Amino acid sequence: MTGGPAVLASRCFAPAVRERLAALFALDENTTEDPLPRGELLRRAAGKAGIMVTPVDRVDAELLDAAGPGLRVVATLSVGLDHIDLAAARERGVTVGYTPDVLTHATAEMAIALMLSLLRRVTEGDRRIRRGRPWALTPNFMLGRGAAGLVFGCVGFGRIGRAAAGIAGALGMEVVHTSRRATGEPGECTFGELLARADVVSLHCPLTPDTRHLIDAAALRAMRPDAVLVNTSRGAVVDEAALVAALRDGVIGGAALDVFEDEPRVHPGLRDLENVVMAPHLGSATLTTRTAMGMLCVDALEDVLLRGREPGNAVPGG
Ligand code: DGY
Repeated sequence: MTGGPAVLASRCFAPAVRERLAALFALDENTTEDPLPRGELLRRAAGKAGIMVTPVDRVDAELLDAAGPGLRVVATLSVGLDHIDLAAARERGVTVGYTPDVLTHATAEMAIALMLSLLRRVTEGDRRIRRGRPWALTPNFMLGRGAAGLVFGCVGFGRIGRAAAGIAGALGMEVVHTSRRATGEPGECTFGELLARADVVSLHCPLTPDTRHLIDAAALRAMRPDAVLVNTSRGAVVDEAALVAALRDGVIGGAALDVFEDEPRVHPGLRDLENVVMAPHLGSATLTTRTAMGMLCVDALEDVLLRGREPGNAVPGG
């Protein structure tokens, strides 16, 4: 352990990030691939000036108090902030750093990868081959839908939503979008209009009290019966039990999910359905992206702890 302010890294981050953390700080690092159990996280937070976390670690008053009055900065390897009690951090004078921008393209790409997998039945075909079920190239075998000409409905038109919409447009899709604040840009519509029109409803909004279960049974009923839902935002934006029922009953055509309500648990009903594509929260999971995210976190720790300045990636108003 080198000198410098005491920092806890709750997870094993990308190699270059770990090296930089170790060079700058007195580092207490979780070197395993598993999250720290809550009790251990609280214990190891004690006395730290900085903590680097992921969305799996809940940063609330309990954790901030366990760290103690010397805690000055928490940096999260995420753009999503729903695991952080920002008000509690603000009250204690703790700066929160996060990782916008660097994961925009990777996450948008994942939304499109999942969408195409579902529309073109890629994972369904893969399962068929692996299970040894017979197949042959016949004119009517496993027909999917091409993206061109379909309507891509973007719920949340921030950085990631816009990037996904850009790729969808390049695939020949018509883009419609809706978000909390009106943008006045072409394709803008209300949430209700989007549900009624879109062939693909792709979620790109943060999880907040307003967006929890935004996609509930009523929203699913408002979608077209052949429409598909793509979720790369947060699981709880969708009522997962209502989604399973809608998929089973043919209320919508399919779902492609990178995120789940109670990760890593997945509603058992989803596993039985062929019209579902699932990934284990891989939106930002490329080495380049995770390294860039990690470096942004270290920038925040370094700015606050070693340079005494507000990081460029501090949560606005946080
Ligand atoms: C985020 O940034 O919020 C992602 O979910 C983590 O990759």
